[in-house]
Amino acid sequence: MSAAAKIEREQAALRAELRPGQSVELLKQLHILTREGRLNQDSRRKLKQVLHLFQFIEKLLLELPQQGAAATLADHGAGKSYLGFIIYDLFFRDRAPAGQVYGIETRTDLVERSRALAERLGFDRMRFLNLTVAESATSAELPEQVDVVTALHACDTATDDAIEFALAKRARFVVVVPCCQAEVAASLREHKALALARSPLAELWRHPLHTREIGSQLTNVLRCLYLEACGYRVTVTELVGWEHSMKNELIIGRRTDQPKASAARRLLELLDQFGLRALQPLRFPALPALPASPASSALPQD
Ligand SMILES: C[S@@+](CC[C@H](N)C(=O)[O-])C[C@H]1O[C@@H](n2cnc3c(N)ncnc32)[C@H](O)[C@@H]1O
Repeated sequence: MSAAAKIEREQAALRAELRPGQSVELLKQLHILTREGRLNQDSRRKLKQVLHLFQFIEKLLLELPQQGAAATLADHGAGKSYLGFIIYDLFFRDRAPAGQVYGIETRTDLVERSRALAERLGFDRMRFLNLTVAESATSAELPEQVDVVTALHACDTATDDAIEFALAKRARFVVVVPCCQAEVAASLREHKALALARSPLAELWRHPLHTREIGSQLTNVLRCLYLEACGYRVTVTELVGWEHSMKNELIIGRRTDQPKASAARRLLELLDQFGLRALQPLRFPALPALPASPASSALPQD
């Protein structure tokens, strides 16, 4: 195949992946595309992932009052803000004239870079805050209420902090794709000998690789139960095929304001079962208290 034909084939593949009206200049500035407009394998993977996630988020934004015209969205562990920029480009720029996108990131260099890029592109309703996710929950730089909270591969417990942020801000939707997780695995590791003596189930995390995997799996299960216990309906799906990323679990919470006592109870039972009760005050501080009896219940007995 000639060089020209190869380039034309690449361009056609690229056009097929982009959304109508999507800014090619933005993708170049984000280094997803080269200056010549070419896409390498790594950036194709990232672009595919972010565009796929955008499709879920777009539907949620459209469910907001006035189809999201005044939506606020906070993206945690924003990194280079691929996700925030693409959401702004494809939704906020034209369809949310009174909307605002916040990117929360601890790395100063990335925050400065994103601020400069937003200015160059005239994305004037994007703000980048050099804060930890936990700090952002009480920062005066963010509004009292945020409609949509996202966290794409926010490291370790930053995903938990993003969920806490969503609860504090009474977010209508929370969309997280968790990263690797170490906290629960460390706890399982610490109490492994005791667990093995007590129950054959501990075989599930006897080998170090399994400790890590069960730790991640359990963490996400606990996150889902926490959201349900706090009044969110939860769906868990795959973001894109496993060939694209190992960190591929997409958790979407939708606020229903109907906290589930059964989820709170199950969460506590799991913590006990896995010897993780010490994590409760740190990771699940907003967990509603369980009713003493159905008669005195503050929570519906679902
Ligand atoms: C794996 S990167 C993902 C970046 C981006 N969301 C993406 O998918 O391209 C995780 C980012 O989260 C940031 N981060 C980690 N812990 C954080 C915290 N507690 N608060 C804010 N940002 C955090 C890191 O600096 C890093 O830029």
